[in-house]
Amino acid sequence: MAYGLLKGKKGIITGALDENSIAWKVAEKAYEEGATFVLTNAPIAMRMGEINKLAEKTSSQIIPADATSVDELTTLFTQSQEVLGGKIDFVLHSIGMSVNIRKKIPYTESNYDYFMKGIDVSAMSLHKMLAVAKKLDAINEWGSVVALTHMAAQRTFPFYTDMADIKAMLESIARSFGYHYGIEKKVRINTVSQSPTKTTAGTGIKGFNDFFDYANAIAPLGNASAEDCANYCITLFSDLTRMVTMQNLYHDGGYSNTGVSTTIMKKFGIE
Ligand SMILES: NC(=O)c1ccc[n+]([C@@H]2O[C@H](COP(=O)([O-])OP(=O)(O)OC[C@H]3O[C@@H](n4cnc5c(N)ncnc54)[C@H](O)[C@@H]3O)[C@@H](O)[C@H]2O)c1
Repeated sequence: MAYGLLKGKKGIITGALDENSIAWKVAEKAYEEGATFVLTNAPIAMRMGEINKLAEKTSSQIIPADATSVDELTTLFTQSQEVLGGKIDFVLHSIGMSVNIRKKIPYTESNYDYFMKGIDVSAMSLHKMLAVAKKLDAINEWGSVVALTHMAAQRTFPFYTDMADIKAMLESIARSFGYHYGIEKKVRINTVSQSPTKTTAGTGIKGFNDFFDYANAIAPLGNASAEDCANYCITLFSDLTRMVTMQNLYHDGGYSNTGVSTTIMKKFGIE
């Protein structure tokens, strides 16, 4: 059911790779809720061509941009305003990539060039986007920026390797930039800390499927799906959450506040 929560709002949605992507669901929901937006992804990710289907379905234009390039981000924010006919109201940062994870390198043996690449793509890209947007004054007052993160930023999940540190940085950037952008332009910046979700980035993590089942058995509500995550992001883009900024918001079915569940206890033979 649609509520018209984003009626008249203009946005930029990054990271829709295929229909499993969290960003894909956000785009579908944003469209249903009345938003117009630009879709963007790294030029290399466009090769699969899947994003064209989403663009067609949501009547949106695609503007490729590598999120590590300030020049390409400048083009993205400039052209998006032209295409959409005005300033931006919401931005979804849904970008994550660790070469160390891809190559299954253990955390204690991290390759530092790969580590730097992961930081640039997955955390610094948020800073770059915000800096570009602020310089161009591209985001409307009370605009909302959401970046996706995971609880490995607060607690250790060994298989999350360097992405844990990178997510901690991403969340810190949301707080730090949120302060400055809030003071100057009332722009809100939050991170949503999502359950494990079966996407390309998610399933690339070693042991992901077992962890998915484990988290599902711990969380009282079970794992939050990509679609649920999209619904939550929509509320954060809407005017209903105007005073929420600089927060890391858990969207995980209660996982983060559960020590142990009876389901897990039973697996150990404890009734
Ligand atoms: N899947 C999970 O379990 C999970 C859980 C919590 C948080 N997240 C976060 O959600 C976000 C979206 O990931 P997803 O799970 O939907 O997976 P996904 O693989 O569908 O999306 C990741 C996206 O990042 C894009 N990307 C990579 N490098 C880029 C670059 N240089 N410039 C621009 N875009 C680039 C990819 O093309 C892809 O579209 C990520 O930040 C991820 O860490 C995922």
